[in-house]
Amino acid sequence: MQIHIFKDAAQIGEAAAQLFAAKLLQKPDCVLGLATGSTPLPTYDALVALHRRGLADFSRVRSFNLDEYVGIDRAHEQSYYRFMYDNLFSLVNIKPENVQVPHPVSEDLGADCDAYEAAIDAAGGIDLQILGIGNNGHIAFNEPCEVFPLRTHIVHLTESTILANQRFFNSADEVPRQAMTMGIGTILRAREILLIATGAGKAAAVAAMVNGNADPRCPASALHLHSHVTVFLDAGAALIL
Ligand code: GLP
Repeated sequence: MQIHIFKDAAQIGEAAAQLFAAKLLQKPDCVLGLATGSTPLPTYDALVALHRRGLADFSRVRSFNLDEYVGIDRAHEQSYYRFMYDNLFSLVNIKPENVQVPHPVSEDLGADCDAYEAAIDAAGGIDLQILGIGNNGHIAFNEPCEVFPLRTHIVHLTESTILANQRFFNSADEVPRQAMTMGIGTILRAREILLIATGAGKAAAVAAMVNGNADPRCPASALHLHSHVTVFLDAGAALIL
């Protein structure tokens, strides 16, 4: 795990976007793993700016998002599908048919999960995966648990995640209770992973991830099991390392 500490979130956004732009140059038909949340927003802004300067061509890129709530429509302003269109997909030249966001809507949500996992495999796997981290150490929607989940699956969100995400809804009651998420195994199959954390609110989760051994009670600690992980932190997130 290679850790880089930056002054602020804007600097991280620039550095992360450059890492993505380099990947697009190395492998124009690469498969990106994308994340939602406030953390990757400066990265997406910087990537859009690079695209506008002709430095990031998404015309052959395919992408898979980490997760999505169960029970809200794609048009809902808090759906992760909508988030990705508003903040990245509609602002760059990625083809809609090359974009995948989990879509847990069928009668058999397990089948939706299996199909998503199979689609990632059929695309040849993820080349570069971006991750944020939850206050409780979750990555994607893999909540603290006893065994690392291997594959895309349905999860029940913990109370702390519901409370953390209520800021995007009118109240905690409106936050969906379930989500479809890539598993830890799915994430670890990415060839390269970039985790970003900003703000002192993430300092404890970051310290648990960096200082502990791989332990499913801190899902992000699974990244110790991967050989190509880069971590970008601002001063706040690195506060208690
Ligand atoms: C959500 C997402 C995660 C994200 C985390 C942190 O629960 N499922 O992918 O990393 O929250 O979000 P934020 O970046 O807004 O702090």
